[in-house]
Amino acid sequence: MTTGNVDIHCHILPGLDDGAPSMEIAVGMARMAAEDGTTHLVATPHANFQFRYDPTRIAALRDELQAAAGDQLQILIGCDFHLSYENVQDALAHPRKYSVNGGRYLLVEFAEMFNIASMEAILRQLREQGLIPVLTHPERNPVFQQHPELAPRYIELGCIVQVTASSLTGDFGKQAARSAADLLDRNLIHVLASDGHSTRHRLPRLSEAAQFVAERKDVQLARALVSDNPAAIIADRPLPYRPNGAVRTSRKKGLWSRFRS
Ligand SMILES: [Fe+2]
Repeated sequence: MTTGNVDIHCHILPGLDDGAPSMEIAVGMARMAAEDGTTHLVATPHANFQFRYDPTRIAALRDELQAAAGDQLQILIGCDFHLSYENVQDALAHPRKYSVNGGRYLLVEFAEMFNIASMEAILRQLREQGLIPVLTHPERNPVFQQHPELAPRYIELGCIVQVTASSLTGDFGKQAARSAADLLDRNLIHVLASDGHSTRHRLPRLSEAAQFVAERKDVQLARALVSDNPAAIIADRPLPYRPNGAVRTSRKKGLWSRFRS
């Protein structure tokens, strides 16, 4: 299968969390994603205080969904990993248990309120264990909204930033849209993902946000955020496009140098 758009964050597995409630809706989400141009999609059930993460059940449901959805897109496994104390201890003990497709990239979700210094220490611990934390939707988090210096600070630690595609296009309200556009304009976004939950709201689509990025910035950046970078994440490779950070360390000209800030 050639690689089109790659969605690294989607609650598509049925009956596990607040995402797809049934296999029928999960298949509908797969169809919707494929029709929107997605060829690879990472199923990322929550691991938090409300929903337990059960790898055996998740693998069985992935197989069942893949068989039902056919070869219109490939479904992989990851986790929407909440940064609770218990979760972090378990991830430090079993670094690849929650990561995207068993690689180094780990989606991490922050609490609505968190202590900046403690979170930095946790991110350092995850990095020391060989994981690359993918900060999920900082544009929707009040602490990140109030502290614009946080995203670049965490990127310096080796984290990368994932913004929800539909935040850019306004589905999460004006504050999230402003914050997402600000991250985009400061070249602090590495990847866009749908964080899809159903076929009726929070849809598993990336193309509208890619169009937004193409119009506000350019087509190459749009492709990097919905295809090139997430394809590298599922393959556990270094990101081909690194905003900021990389422009200070790379001597290469071309795409990166145009995003110098
Ligand atoms: Fe999520």
